[in-house]
Amino acid sequence: MNDIVFRSPKKRGRIAVVLSGRGSNFLAIHDAVGRGEVDAEIVLVLSNVETAPGLAAARERGLEALWLNPKDYASRDDYDAALLAEVRKRDVDLICLAGYMKIVTPLLCRAFVHRLLNIHPALLPAFPGLHVQQKAVDWGVRYSGATVHFVAEEVDMGPIILQAVVPVLQDDSADTLSARILEQEHKIYPEAVRLYFEGRIEVRGRRVFIL
Ligand code: GRF
Repeated sequence: MNDIVFRSPKKRGRIAVVLSGRGSNFLAIHDAVGRGEVDAEIVLVLSNVETAPGLAAARERGLEALWLNPKDYASRDDYDAALLAEVRKRDVDLICLAGYMKIVTPLLCRAFVHRLLNIHPALLPAFPGLHVQQKAVDWGVRYSGATVHFVAEEVDMGPIILQAVVPVLQDDSADTLSARILEQEHKIYPEAVRLYFEGRIEVRGRRVFIL
């Protein structure tokens, strides 16, 4: 049996959401927090894209919204160091990547081991990377879905926390499949965060146990 390597903390969590676009997963998490389902507070929404609708939505909801311009930093490491500094200033327990279109550096992964989550619109380890709903349609799989996972240094390969399965229909386009997957994303991402701060996520090796 693997030794227990990590058990998530039972506490009122402080979350930073990092996004590049629409922000519907961020909103789903914030809504769940608002309904009292997740014992946490979103203390920062950070983006690499100035015009990200998710950033505007965060401001509208009265949350701290911060744009870090990649052009201001000489390297990806410098960028992630700045991101880390912002997150640390606010005493963040958990970073939720939610549609963040930038690869995170090992620097960030190592600083936030087991404290960095991502959502991916496929059933990992199938279809890592980009445009995965189109790839699922093109490949002809019967099922796809969504995955919430810890972020490890290898892209899309960290321990899996939750997955939801959706059928791929014969007349699906990438758009119709994306919409069906997104509905599930909005359920399992808040759910994973809820379990996290209920102290119910245990990682042994690369397997995650829900307690
Ligand atoms: C989602 O499909 C998510 O799985 C992927 O990027 C998309 C982000 O959507 N990583 P949104 O910005 O949360 O609406």
